[in-house]
Amino acid sequence: MKVAIFGATGRTGRELVCQSLGRGYDVVAYARDPSRISSESPCLTKKAGKLDSRQSLRIAIEGCDCVLSALGPMGKQGDEELCDGIANILSVMEEYGVVRFIALSTTSAQDISDIESFRTKLRRGMIRRGRPTSYEQIVRYSQLIRDSSCGWTLVRIASILTDKPLSKQVRAGYLGRDSFRNTLSRADLAWFMLEQVESNEYLRKAPALSN
Ligand SMILES: NC(=O)c1ccc[n+]([C@@H]2O[C@H](COP(=O)([O-])OP(=O)(O)OC[C@H]3O[C@@H](n4cnc5c(N)ncnc54)[C@H](OP(=O)(O)O)[C@@H]3O)[C@@H](O)[C@H]2O)c1
Repeated sequence: MKVAIFGATGRTGRELVCQSLGRGYDVVAYARDPSRISSESPCLTKKAGKLDSRQSLRIAIEGCDCVLSALGPMGKQGDEELCDGIANILSVMEEYGVVRFIALSTTSAQDISDIESFRTKLRRGMIRRGRPTSYEQIVRYSQLIRDSSCGWTLVRIASILTDKPLSKQVRAGYLGRDSFRNTLSRADLAWFMLEQVESNEYLRKAPALSN
């Protein structure tokens, strides 16, 4: 199994790289500054590139069985490039016939299976007002992924991210239907994303996730 990982320098992305190597996958880790990826392995290729460089994206994606994205807004300059960047990834995937795409999102991106409550509307409104660019990018790129022809899974973070160790104890479901805890460890988030690589359980679905 060969996977390409975007956002590989991020805290979730680094977990994805490390756990992918642990599963015996061949990994292409794509980042603006790959020297910040500390993992080392003969199965790991670090690829430098920006999300607007189609040629670099081609080199990273060609021959992969699955693409994983831990890209996400950081509340600073560059966030507004994410949507176009993900559009480029999807386009290069289509060009090379790479179908499976597992991407990080958040519950700011609503799902048809969610049942909206006053609390979830209030929370979404607060995020929208507090971090408008991040909110807009997450909603836009999640829709872009849903509208694509690839075999997508959107893993929507429903809680505050932590750096607690891997527990493999996660709750996946839909707002208003299932109950969620207040936190989600990045290790468990990465683990759940990797569980989807060889599974169709959440194909073209967008489960919300917490510990
Ligand atoms: N903290 C929380 O409790 C919480 C809750 C809900 C949702 N979230 C969201 O969850 C996401 C993942 O969390 P995290 O802690 O793993 O994030 P993180 O450590 O901030 O990592 C974000 C990754 O996205 C990349 N990235 C962002 N903008 C980019 C751009 N324009 N071009 C290329 N790469 C770009 C970063 O690359 P560089 O390293 O090159 O900058 C980095 O690899 C974040 O977007 C965050 O907003 C967080």
